[in-house]
Amino acid sequence: MSKIPRHVSIIMDGNGRWAKKRGLDRLEGHKAGVESVRAATEFAAENGIGFLSLFAFSEENWLRPENEISGLMELMVGAIIGETSTLMNNNIRFRVIGEKSRLSAGLNERIEEIERKSSSNTGLTMVIFLSYSGKWDILQAITRYTSMVKSGEIPQNETLTAEKFSTLLSTTDIPDPDLLIRTSGEQRISNYMLWQSAYTEFYFTDVLWPDFRKNDFRKALETYSERERRYGKTRDQINNSI
Ligand code: FPP
Repeated sequence: MSKIPRHVSIIMDGNGRWAKKRGLDRLEGHKAGVESVRAATEFAAENGIGFLSLFAFSEENWLRPENEISGLMELMVGAIIGETSTLMNNNIRFRVIGEKSRLSAGLNERIEEIERKSSSNTGLTMVIFLSYSGKWDILQAITRYTSMVKSGEIPQNETLTAEKFSTLLSTTDIPDPDLLIRTSGEQRISNYMLWQSAYTEFYFTDVLWPDFRKNDFRKALETYSERERRYGKTRDQINNSI
């Protein structure tokens, strides 16, 4: 692995299918997925990845059956509480991004507590996308922009640039993902970081999320190392700038 990406993001997919194959309830798949979160976090920290982000719950996931939603939320509270000391001992900064107003007061309290506790950690930053969608993010950025123009904070005649717009997104202080991994054989972005993934390299694997381990992560990084990122430029331009 010659090139280590600064930011790796993962769409953790396939928990339900993993459980169904075993005749288990879908929630058992999510529980098994927590072990994969642990393995991926360890791998990222061991390999000097700066940011590991995980798509844990989308805006669309609110449409799932009530018991699956509450089970998942409970699981996440449990995992966050249970893993706090491991995160602190490993100098990991913990962040949550998404429409937090839709989360329960209890979950928000836990999130705020560990975000605060881990805010000066300088190792890996772990970002959980919770109640998040790419379209929501773009819309909330536009809403903020409009009200800043209305209040005079941004002059009416100032041209809006991509760089300025990026600062209004919920990911403002997080670099765009270099590599996006999606498990379980699905090959789509599912309303995830739409703006931020404009030049992201995608890696799809058939492995179901609960089976995803360090070796699978390593394979994704090896594939990434072989990719040539040109950002719209020619190969010659890229070679001459090295
Ligand atoms: C997608 O599989 C997975 C989810 C919607 C939830 C992922 C969440 C976890 C693994 C818990 C994470 C915990 C922390 C602390 C981040 P799916 O249910 O869509 O699977 P299917 O497509 O096979 O039905």
